Amino acid sequence: MRETHLLLGQTLRFTGAPFAQGIDAARHERNGAVLVADGRIAEVGTAEDLRARFPLAEITNYGDALITAGFVDAHAHYPQTAMIASWGKRLIDWLNSYTFPEEMRFADPDYAAAIAARYFDLLLSNGTTTVCSFCTIHPESVDAFFAEARARGLRALAGKTCMDRNAPDALTDSAQSAYDDSKALLKKWHGVDRLRYVITPRFSPTSTPEQLEAMGVLWSEHPDCLMQTHLSEQRDEIEWVRALFPEARDYLDTYERHGLLGPGALFGHAIHLQERERAVLRETGSSLIHCPTSNTFIGSGLFDMDGLTIEGHRIGLATDTGGGSSFSMLRTMAAAYEIAQLRHRALHPAELYWLATAGSARALRMDDRIGNLSPGLEADLVVLDLASTPAIAQRAARADDIWEALFPTIMMGDDRATRAVWVNGRPVRTGAPSR
Ligand code: GUN
Ligand code: ZN
Repeated sequence: MRETHLLLGQTLRFTGAPFAQGIDAARHERNGAVLVADGRIAEVGTAEDLRARFPLAEITNYGDALITAGFVDAHAHYPQTAMIASWGKRLIDWLNSYTFPEEMRFADPDYAAAIAARYFDLLLSNGTTTVCSFCTIHPESVDAFFAEARARGLRALAGKTCMDRNAPDALTDSAQSAYDDSKALLKKWHGVDRLRYVITPRFSPTSTPEQLEAMGVLWSEHPDCLMQTHLSEQRDEIEWVRALFPEARDYLDTYERHGLLGPGALFGHAIHLQERERAVLRETGSSLIHCPTSNTFIGSGLFDMDGLTIEGHRIGLATDTGGGSSFSMLRTMAAAYEIAQLRHRALHPAELYWLATAGSARALRMDDRIGNLSPGLEADLVVLDLASTPAIAQRAARADDIWEALFPTIMMGDDRATRAVWVNGRPVRTGAPSR
């Protein structure tokens, strides 16, 4: 029998990108409704219309809460869950002092499974329904991630993080073993249920040219996979890349010359870019993933959202947990707002929300499946309480429109704002009781 649910509340969806088409690309319905059938969004409209047309659907009335697509976190490191918010270091020191020791623990499959379970619980409690994560060099860490995602019915993406130099011995593979392990994991997980394998060289400083070449070959053999890595996060890192790859024109060229560029390439951070890099990234349809809480926390710099969107780049938004200091895409939107303000551009709530949902889905080349309230898309939804704390409630009470009502939750909200989450057409969590 067809399982049909009718969700009532305020709704927010996008008919295009607000960066390109303006704020009218965001559509808000005060008395909205979403019909969910067989795991998909079947209809989006007004409560009045859909109630009349689908009288047999099981109704869940969320009242004043806001129903939208679930959040899409386009770049994270689930193995860094337990060491998030580690004090006092910049990128390279932070990797050596905190990150690598923690990632070594993932040789133990039980530890990997425990952290993966904890991570997905944290994601769902924050309304994130899709993540694209790095794992560690251990195949067990990939198995743990995908097993936990699969058990929750999630659409999730990840890959084994490959490193064959400039990391502790216990965390290095080789060009050949990275290729072999990645290929085996890809065959095991890519396309299983809602899971996707992502080819994952960590970044140029921890891969030899031979390993980057092997990753490029693997990608050319599996062009339907995404490829994720890091690019131009900190100035020291860029100097290091210049020393390690004297023949390269710039940082991006260290990937480009090994076939690691093109549609489906995801570059985390992309802050300190040269003109040539910007042009090539745009021409090749590569995705830039903005990680604002990480960029302030590790002291990396201010992403050029305004300039890059004007140039027409494909941009996603991400926590970069645990370089990022939060699991919450609300907190991540707030940080993106603050960084853009420091560059004299006030991002509109519609732009922020688009980045955290449809924009990230587009960056992951999955906007035909997730990231919006559109008929035919998979029913991954978050329902937000726009008055989740006294501070937010008193500000939202003064709001004249949806943007003024939503912005306090973007700036001050956390997991208390998550009223409910639906994954693949099923409710997975009911948050705080309605007041
Ligand atoms: N660059 C290479 N690895 C990492 C990582 O784990 N986190 C961040 N923020 N940057 C990186
Ligand atoms: Zn990262």
